[in-house]
Amino acid sequence: MKAIVITGVGGPEVLELQDVPTPEPQGDQIRVRVRAAGVNRADLMQAMGGYPAPKGAPTDIPGLEYAGEVDALGPNVAGPLQVGDRVFGIVSGGGLAEWVVTPERMAVRIPEQLDFVQAAAVPEVFLTAHDALDARAEVRSGERVLIHAIGGGVGSAAVQIARAMGCQVFGTTRTPAKLEKAFSMGLGLDVGIDVGSESFVEVINTSTRGEGVHVVIDHVGGPLTAGNMEAVATRGRIVQVGLLGGSVTTIDLRILMAKRITLVGTTLRARPVEEKIAATQAFAARVVPWLERGVVQPILDRVYPAESAKEALERVKSNLGFGKVVLTF
Ligand SMILES: NC(=O)c1ccc[n+]([C@@H]2O[C@H](COP(=O)([O-])OP(=O)(O)OC[C@H]3O[C@@H](n4cnc5c(N)ncnc54)[C@H](OP(=O)(O)O)[C@@H]3O)[C@@H](O)[C@H]2O)c1
Repeated sequence: MKAIVITGVGGPEVLELQDVPTPEPQGDQIRVRVRAAGVNRADLMQAMGGYPAPKGAPTDIPGLEYAGEVDALGPNVAGPLQVGDRVFGIVSGGGLAEWVVTPERMAVRIPEQLDFVQAAAVPEVFLTAHDALDARAEVRSGERVLIHAIGGGVGSAAVQIARAMGCQVFGTTRTPAKLEKAFSMGLGLDVGIDVGSESFVEVINTSTRGEGVHVVIDHVGGPLTAGNMEAVATRGRIVQVGLLGGSVTTIDLRILMAKRITLVGTTLRARPVEEKIAATQAFAARVVPWLERGVVQPILDRVYPAESAKEALERVKSNLGFGKVVLTF
């Protein structure tokens, strides 16, 4: 089969479309003929070294998600999935390939109205955003939620999920055009903040009469952590999802104590399979019905053929896009 292979340590230039053996489903695994697969920053980080594939995943084929058709069943697959079913899901690696194997319970049927490209833009970012808001932050309807980097894959999914959960949504970006896009697409942003020209702490203070937001979903890290603690309400929750701006920061722990803030981190990729299955089942139960009803929607930035994987990864690296970059196989 054809797969995107990491051929060395470096940027997008080390990724090559190569012929590799097609995997066989073992035990409770199904095999999926991948038609489209989302590209993620983790794929870039893996190619750059120091971010090895989780245990059991291919070491040299990146890819954390896919959309395609079931084409073979392992000997212990009990169903309900059958050969020919259209499925999507997260994997621990190996998603950027024509075929991928995955435990049956980590695969979810694709809603009828989504094609493979649209479906491929869903699993990683919607699972991450749903897990962060629901399981990590325990967001409740009526709460105020701040989401940083709303033009990203996770950010644009988190805005929609927070709105679907009945929250008031504040969102930041460094790129004003992304705010315009989020509003024009009706994603559910209530207050957009251009961090290039205004302080998110001040905007939130003013908009909430000093009460703050109940939850922060942060993909940026270091430079924003102190501001997050100022912007969050008493008994607020801050979920660290990414570290795009850096992993090291200094915080005043007096604020953490005085406000009784919960600061919690999350990663999906490194979790054991059973925890990924649990996150997948929660996504299937709550987010997939929203996709079916159009309450939330995949946000596609660009689509590239597998032969153009380097360009696709350059696009992710550039920060220019809005939503997801997808490869077709
Ligand atoms: N914890 C998990 O399980 C998990 C799962 C998926 C992804 N992630 C991580 O979450 C982060 C976001 O992922 P994604 O897929 O949404 O990425 P993405 O689609 O590439 O979007 C990231 C956005 O963040 C903004 N950004 C980039 N660098 C920044 C910086 N230094 N300071 C402020 N904003 C910055 C950019 O928008 P602007 O125009 O606003 O700058 C960019 O569009 C990544 O770090 C990713 O690795 C974590």
